[in-house]
Amino acid sequence: MTQPTNALLELKDIAKVFYTDEVETHALSGVHFDIQRGEYISITGPSGCGKSTLLSILGLLDSPTSGSYRLNNVPVEDISAAERARIRNKEIGFIFQAFNLIGDLTVFENVELPLTYRDGVSKAERRDRVQEALERVGMAHRLKHYPSQLSGGQQQRVAVARALVGKPSLLLADEPTGNLDSKNGEAVMALLDELHKSGSTIAMVTHDPRYADFAQRKIFMFDGRVVDEETLHRLRKEEESRLDAQILRARTGT
Ligand SMILES: Nc1ncnc2c1ncn2[C@@H]1O[C@H](COP(=O)(O)OP(=O)(O)OP(=O)(O)O)[C@@H](O)[C@H]1O
Ligand SMILES: [Mg+2]
Repeated sequence: MTQPTNALLELKDIAKVFYTDEVETHALSGVHFDIQRGEYISITGPSGCGKSTLLSILGLLDSPTSGSYRLNNVPVEDISAAERARIRNKEIGFIFQAFNLIGDLTVFENVELPLTYRDGVSKAERRDRVQEALERVGMAHRLKHYPSQLSGGQQQRVAVARALVGKPSLLLADEPTGNLDSKNGEAVMALLDELHKSGSTIAMVTHDPRYADFAQRKIFMFDGRVVDEETLHRLRKEEESRLDAQILRARTGT
């Protein structure tokens, strides 16, 4: 019997393997870490190292192939499908890397969606909260637009408003500033900071070291594993030298 801990999320030896057309992709191999309640962590690592896969598992959108994941001291495999849906809808805010806005809903309706899962939020209150969330990301002038009518950065800002409007107790953000200029990027980081100060737990994937500094703790990943910062730098250097050698060979035709 494992002792209860204060960790909100506890991962032990998590692996994720994708099977497609006889190819096995080991997206995560032996990931092990905790996130405490109210903590703000960043996750950094090269493209393809498993960051989005990890966030999907943390957010109960996907299951690990092996290993143990406890959320709030409960093994996630013991949580019923109905309870998982409740947690996803009411407790977790997700900012996806690919935005995942719903194409046939307007900007207003997209941001309103999480609030429609909440009991006791009146239509008028929903309208005010959606308006406020969109004002905070500078998108209140586009309420009736559809996602396809917005630029990439505008879609990202709407996705941020949607994730924050319900004040989730756990926010999972996958490069929330990836498509934004520095002014809008800083505005989004300020919103995350405010959510964190109000007690939410945040896990944010970012490639930008300036934004990683907003977090209280940084997690580094390489090739499906959590590594320390020095190891990441060393492995990155090795990879860069391999790429340099490849480029040189291509240039010299050897
Ligand atoms: N549904 C899937 N089927 C097969 N392989 C997948 C699937 N999803 C992810 N992968 C593979 O798993 C690995 C990790 O992918 P993931 O999207 O987690 O990387 P990432 O760290 O988020 O990268 P990026 O920084 O480019 O977003 C990659 O090699 C990817 O090709
Ligand atoms: Mg990703």
